[in-house]
Amino acid sequence: MSSKPMQIAKDLPTTSHAAADIVLDTAYQNISELEWQELFSFAKKSRLPEFITDLFSGKHVNQSEDRPALHSALRNLSKTPVILDGQDVMPSVTKVWQRMDALCNQWVGVTDVIHIGIGGSDFGPRLTIEALAHVSNIESRGMRMHFLANIDTAELARILTHALPHSTRVIIVSKSFTTLETTMNAKAVVAWLKNSGLTQSQINKVLFAVTANISVAKSFGIDEEHIFPFWDWVGGRYSVWSAVGLPIALQYGFKTFEEFLAGAHAMDLHFRNSPLEDNLPVIMALALLHQQEKYDIKSYAAIPYADALDWFPKWLQQLDMESNGKSIGKDGKPVKHSSPVVFGSAGSNAQHSYFQLFHQGPEVIPIDFIAVRKPMSNRPEATAHHRILLSNCLAQAQALAHGKHANNPNDVYPGKRPSNLLLLPELNAYYLGALLALYENRAATLGALWNINSFDQPGVEYGKILAKPIEKALDSGSQHIDASDSIDAVTAARINLLNS
Ligand code: F6P
Repeated sequence: MSSKPMQIAKDLPTTSHAAADIVLDTAYQNISELEWQELFSFAKKSRLPEFITDLFSGKHVNQSEDRPALHSALRNLSKTPVILDGQDVMPSVTKVWQRMDALCNQWVGVTDVIHIGIGGSDFGPRLTIEALAHVSNIESRGMRMHFLANIDTAELARILTHALPHSTRVIIVSKSFTTLETTMNAKAVVAWLKNSGLTQSQINKVLFAVTANISVAKSFGIDEEHIFPFWDWVGGRYSVWSAVGLPIALQYGFKTFEEFLAGAHAMDLHFRNSPLEDNLPVIMALALLHQQEKYDIKSYAAIPYADALDWFPKWLQQLDMESNGKSIGKDGKPVKHSSPVVFGSAGSNAQHSYFQLFHQGPEVIPIDFIAVRKPMSNRPEATAHHRILLSNCLAQAQALAHGKHANNPNDVYPGKRPSNLLLLPELNAYYLGALLALYENRAATLGALWNINSFDQPGVEYGKILAKPIEKALDSGSQHIDASDSIDAVTAARINLLNS
């Protein structure tokens, strides 16, 4: 049996571009110069430059909800006016920054923070807190940061076992302040504080809220001066840059939070001002579109070769699939393409899980390899380990691109599996901010190219509505639930099983 590596093509175009010091190399996308030109002219024909201008200038790009998507204003550290319906939003944004900064200086003796929120009110801060915890020289208050999202009491039970009630602060984060998981978890935590002996006035002092629905937060019992607002022009999954990111500032200091915003702002300036041909979010979006056209791809993967970014794919799943997982376009007609399924986890662990499928599975799955130049720890082993981590990352991309011939079909690697390499100089708040903004702007670009409104999420409501009568039926304990308008025969049988 002979087995030899395929000849590595010398003429692959090495297209590297940089923004905010993050390098994108698309060489393994296997897209010819001519194909790139066609992609860029498609973007121009699709009026992408006009869309980018509209996005940043407060036009109502979220047509179905008749709102702009101005999350970029939340990281607009240059404070240039952002006019929304005739008014500059920057004074309100700046006021919240000042309040966040002030709160950072007020908290002393806090051992635990319980951040209660789900979806966009969870992923961004959770990912950032986790990622920055791995930065070896970061200044941290060292508080235990607990994230409570799931209605499943497993998370609640684990957190309440470890938190010290008399030195805990609670931040309830919900744009709508009506999300059932969040309000029920918040009530459970308040009850725990009460049962731990805190008086009502002590509880009031430790409860904070971040929301766009101030009146409901107030009626929940949060003091007005403990409520940090954000606005309906910020989508939940784009909200980590608002006071939703409060835990980041509280744990690592407001300066670090500002660095996080600064990285994202730098990426926004790049997205807004660079020609399409040098524009990282645009290039990444067009490469994905090309692979959709060529291979009809149904999924893509993001593999950060950094354990610190293990939460990144989960954050990205909501960003991409809640934004662009839609089959109807802005014109009400079916779209040709929409978001592929997104998945991923930290490398090199991921190699020992599903990379078999990448190499030899029947489907082509484009991959974003995300690497960090600097090791993530000061351990004596760090340099050697990091070299191996990076070698694995580079080797996987090369193997996937070129494949391998063999006489035994089992040993054949088909190759031509496209991937990007994103290289961060190091992992810190600035580059993390830039990385997240890169993907946010890429999602917006894809939405524009697919003719999808990336800023609403009508599809998540129906299941929530159906859950209500089902919950009532479960609560009844009856084993004789019949099918009805809201509960079909299969679900009725399952309820009866659960009630038995
Ligand atoms: O799952 C739907 C959704 O509305 C997401 O878009 C949002 O991030 C999440 O629920 C939480 O919403 P809220 O911040 O209003 O509690």
